[in-house]
Amino acid sequence: MTPDTPLLHVEGLQTAFHTEDGAWLAVDGVELTVRRGEILGLVGESGSGKSVTGFSLLGLIDPPGEVIAGRVLFQGRDLRALDEEGMRALRGDRIAMIFQDPLMTLNPVLKVGEQMMEAILTHHPRTPRRQARQRCVEALAQVGIPAPESRLDQYPHEFSGGMRQRVAIAIAMLNQPDLIIADEPTTALDVTIQAQILYQMQTLCREHQTAMIWITHDLGVIAELADQVAVMYAGRIVEHGPVAEVLARPVHPYTRGLLDSMPGATVPGQRLQQIDGMAPTLTGREAGCTFRPRCPRASERCGQSAPEIRRHGRQDYRCFHPLINEAS
Ligand SMILES: Nc1ncnc2c1ncn2[C@@H]1O[C@H](COP(=O)(O)OP(=O)(O)OP(=O)(O)O)[C@@H](O)[C@H]1O
Ligand code: SF4
Ligand SMILES: [Mg+2]
Repeated sequence: MTPDTPLLHVEGLQTAFHTEDGAWLAVDGVELTVRRGEILGLVGESGSGKSVTGFSLLGLIDPPGEVIAGRVLFQGRDLRALDEEGMRALRGDRIAMIFQDPLMTLNPVLKVGEQMMEAILTHHPRTPRRQARQRCVEALAQVGIPAPESRLDQYPHEFSGGMRQRVAIAIAMLNQPDLIIADEPTTALDVTIQAQILYQMQTLCREHQTAMIWITHDLGVIAELADQVAVMYAGRIVEHGPVAEVLARPVHPYTRGLLDSMPGATVPGQRLQQIDGMAPTLTGREAGCTFRPRCPRASERCGQSAPEIRRHGRQDYRCFHPLINEAS
């Protein structure tokens, strides 16, 4: 690994769900790069493959799903080559995940403090208990939980929804991971609490040089929080680049369509709206660009083959007729 090696580099990731009608490609050739301390926003319509991408990176796809191709290079090491034990050693330590529902992280029958201690001691068994407990108190304080010491002795049901999500975030941060994958962790919360949590996450990531993939429907959250954005459509990343550039001058017609369909798109709190037309079903996929049936710029060429990744400035995109020199 050299100093230039990205923290995470994903190439050609494909995840299929096997059904009676054949294999569905929920993730179809995803490419992503995340550098140390960087926040990447992953945005796209419902069903575009965001969560399946997150789970695939962490080796959490269960049958009938299967990661069938690609490389997931974490600090230069291919995670797909690791066995389950190797992945378990990384998950919750170097890579953490935060889910939309905090109860996917929290065990309802264990006190919050016991769960937090376990998260530390599983990965770092030699840590003295007193030091681990102190770390738990600090982690709860960092996410804005008042009286953290006494909260450690409570059960998850004694916390409000927003507080539970803060606890899940605190657990994710406990071992100071290098990467957090957060799947819509604030979507269910009210806007004020969401803003507080976003700010806290951003601060924690900056302090610890933690990188993050933030999965969301909300372009406004991406505008506030992320450094880079990847726009996903039908299992592929169709545009990827610095947030300010992609949101101000998108080059892919799908990104342009998303921004045009909602005038206040970059204000947090608005969920992504569908633009005209339907996303393709993954089984009945035809040759050519998957966005073609909905694309105002489609040509005959777009029906013949799928566009490969191209680069314009610092933006990567998949399109034969990008909005270059005409984007506003
Ligand atoms: N266990 C499963 N079995 C079969 N298909 C699945 C399974 N999980 C996900 N899929 C399919 O994979 C595709 C991508 O789903 P995914 O959950 O990643 O979408 P998403 O972008 O996260 O959407 P949302 O914004 O609604 O959370 C969808 O078509 C979904 O139906
Ligand atoms: S390749 Fe063609 S159909 Fe696909 S987004 Fe570009 S212009 Fe539209
Ligand atoms: Mg999802």
